[in-house]
Amino acid sequence: MDTLIIRGGKPLKGEVKISGAKNAALPIITASILASGENTISRIPDLRDVYTMGKLLANMGIRYSYKRGSTSVDTSALSNFEAPYELVKTMRASVLVLGPLLARYGRARVSLPGGCAIGARPINLHLMGLEKMGAKITLDSGYVTAKASRLKGASIYFDTVTVTGTENLMMAAALAKGTTILENAAREPEVTDLADCLISMGAKIKGAGESVIEIEGTDELKPINKYKIIPDRIETGTFMAIAGITGGDLILKDCRPDHLDAVIAKLKEAGVVFKKTKRGLRVVGPERLIARDIKTRPHPGFPTDMQAQFMSMMAVADGTSVIKETIFENRYMHVAELRRMGSYINVDGGTATVHGVEGLKGAPVMATDLRASASLVVAALCAEGESTIHRIYHLDRGYDKIDEKLRNIGADVRRAAS
Ligand code: EPU
Repeated sequence: MDTLIIRGGKPLKGEVKISGAKNAALPIITASILASGENTISRIPDLRDVYTMGKLLANMGIRYSYKRGSTSVDTSALSNFEAPYELVKTMRASVLVLGPLLARYGRARVSLPGGCAIGARPINLHLMGLEKMGAKITLDSGYVTAKASRLKGASIYFDTVTVTGTENLMMAAALAKGTTILENAAREPEVTDLADCLISMGAKIKGAGESVIEIEGTDELKPINKYKIIPDRIETGTFMAIAGITGGDLILKDCRPDHLDAVIAKLKEAGVVFKKTKRGLRVVGPERLIARDIKTRPHPGFPTDMQAQFMSMMAVADGTSVIKETIFENRYMHVAELRRMGSYINVDGGTATVHGVEGLKGAPVMATDLRASASLVVAALCAEGESTIHRIYHLDRGYDKIDEKLRNIGADVRRAAS
């Protein structure tokens, strides 16, 4: 198991090229199942979750290849309609094959994801929507089996905004008979990117990016032809946090600041300066950050996937910050680790109160989930002395070549096997 050893305490400067969005790449790769033949997708990030998705598809008989940021997904020989426990347990996004398999082949068997480090994360809303579209769903031996001769359009209301739920049902509806209306749908940029990709395949979708999405089903979709994934907004936000906490000066290339309005607004209040330049978005950190409060919300609110990195910044800010996590019930696993680096944070239910300290000290810490690991990297980069971050495989699930990108901006980072 690799560890990341970071000697922090200096401002980081230089350029960072942002990779494709993990959470757009995963659903778009599964959208290939909706079409017969070869699908090609570009700006695919080089990540562990993307390899896991490749394995999942290969297990179904799909020919999958990845080369220098592009994938080819040939579904002609798809012969197995199952997402096994071994893969779903390592990546919950595997559940995204459910909608496409059911829509195109009328059947799917997908392991029910268990709880995960950040919360219970049920998929009841995915299943409710598919049932409304006429699927027969049974749960047996930890697996969801879904069957339908042809899905039909339906009116579906989500009690809770769900990103992958919206994506699964949008893909299912694209090949259903009739019109589907998704109400209280997720508005994340990744949902819109998936809709744009489906539209490029011939799907009829209106309203993606808004809370009501209308999908008029078609009989057939064309394979994806060189669709380019949007840049990763959470990777972008993480590098903004790195510039902010180290008092650095970074140019973020190939990013979409319009996908990060809430994050940029908060970072500006905290003293970070942003400037659009020809080379990319320039982000300059202040001498000392100013404490600010946040509350996580579905898009366009402050993203839960940036809460941990923001908390690391607040750990050294001037003043006290109140952080409210409203999306996942257990997303404060990084707090205990940040405390080991000298931060002063109290947690009461979903609320964390962060009393900013003057500085952090390097320590051995443990990564517990993807964004928690990112927060430890952010903290370690400003801490005095050496930090060793264990279980770095969590970070590799979602950050493309992070050590290389950090070294390019002057960070003292090395990876070691432990
Ligand atoms: N929920 C239900 N029932 C459902 C589905 C969701 O109650 O059927 C609840 C969840 O338990 C949670 C809330 O709804 O409390 C929102 O969950 P959502 O379904 O939106 O999360 P997700 O689709 O499983 C995606 C991202 C996550 C990101 C969340 C929230 C992907 C592959 N994953 O998860 O990304 O945190 O949306 O924005 O898109 C990450 O990249 O580190 C990550 C965890």
